[in-house]
Amino acid sequence: MLCENGVIAGILDTGARVDADERYDAAGKLVLPGFIDPHVHSRDPGATHKEDFEHSTRGALTGGVTTVLEMPNAIPPVDSAEVFAQRRAQHEVSAWTDFGLWGLALGEPNIDEIGPLFAAGAVAVKLFWGYALHRETRSLVYNLGDEPPENLLMPPPNGQVMRLFEEVARHGGLLAAHCEDKDVLATSQERLGHPIESYEDLLAARPAAAEATTIAIATEFAKATGARFHVVHLASEAGLEAVRAAQARGVRLTAETCPQYLTLTDADYPRVGPVMKVYPPVREQRDQDALWAGVNEGALVSLGSDHAPHTVEEKSRGFETQPAGAVGCETFGPVLIDALLRGKTTPTRFAEVTATETAKLYGLYPRKASSAPAATPTWWSSTPRPGGRCATRS
Ligand code: DOR
Ligand code: ZN
Repeated sequence: MLCENGVIAGILDTGARVDADERYDAAGKLVLPGFIDPHVHSRDPGATHKEDFEHSTRGALTGGVTTVLEMPNAIPPVDSAEVFAQRRAQHEVSAWTDFGLWGLALGEPNIDEIGPLFAAGAVAVKLFWGYALHRETRSLVYNLGDEPPENLLMPPPNGQVMRLFEEVARHGGLLAAHCEDKDVLATSQERLGHPIESYEDLLAARPAAAEATTIAIATEFAKATGARFHVVHLASEAGLEAVRAAQARGVRLTAETCPQYLTLTDADYPRVGPVMKVYPPVREQRDQDALWAGVNEGALVSLGSDHAPHTVEEKSRGFETQPAGAVGCETFGPVLIDALLRGKTTPTRFAEVTATETAKLYGLYPRKASSAPAATPTWWSSTPRPGGRCATRS
């Protein structure tokens, strides 16, 4: 494999002789595309006491991620083409990796910005289905008790969501969603009858049916509108069955899962502790086994970290009041390589779900994750420094 100025310039036959300034003998090693982490929530701007984009991308690069797709829920969120342009300019000077930006889909409140967001280069738009947002900052409200009701912007009703699917289809973009049904969550929490105090309570308050139900609704909307829909951070066997059912019907529905769902189970909670509170929650061994089967059989096409930093102080609060989310973009590669070496998947499938299929999904292929001579140079440096490029959807 020949590299020139940091990009692949060609692949030669085995044994071919070539003059090069530097040689690296990769015999017995795996040569993988730089990982693409499509699911990173840096807190920049607005909550940089948790983390900023420079540190997220430095962490990512340390673990082999060369492209980060940044989620839209910083403060202010990327809910318009105008904010998209500002965010792009801001991150271009601090990124240590290449990056792409997600747009935020709110339903009716920014339905007219969906087209402009795609035109500006958003890799996809995301609906936080099941989440209440703060009315002013549009930041996620992790626990309904965190805010007085008048501050809550509840997720759009399903009629508006279907309208959003239509709009995304009209622009040929990709819609993704956090899939947990708010009514199933609310009723499950109510039935619990007391605050969430243990990991068992968390699982009871956020059952897998909340995920599967939302995916089933999304399936109908995607079928009816022709929109491409992507399930982020799939965490349950029931959710996976809903994904498979959609795909069997020919619906354009894809799904992602994360290292935490592939390597942890509820049995790890006593060891890992409160940091393990993430939405949707890490479930049981059977869910983990089902998700690996989903990765290997092709139902799940992409892995993302769902990197979601909070402060130690925040994560040390009680179970009920701590925010959901854990860091992950720095450990994404190492944790998954460890799983690969344990035989959980094959090297080829590994490269697909950590790079190639992800690049295709978000319109970055073959500029990213291809071993063909790169048409457009990919950012790379042997002495890392800030200056990543913003990769937009093609
Ligand atoms: O645990 C989570 N944290 N899940 C999400 O969906 C969002 C994330 C965050 O931004 O903190
Ligand atoms: Zn997320």
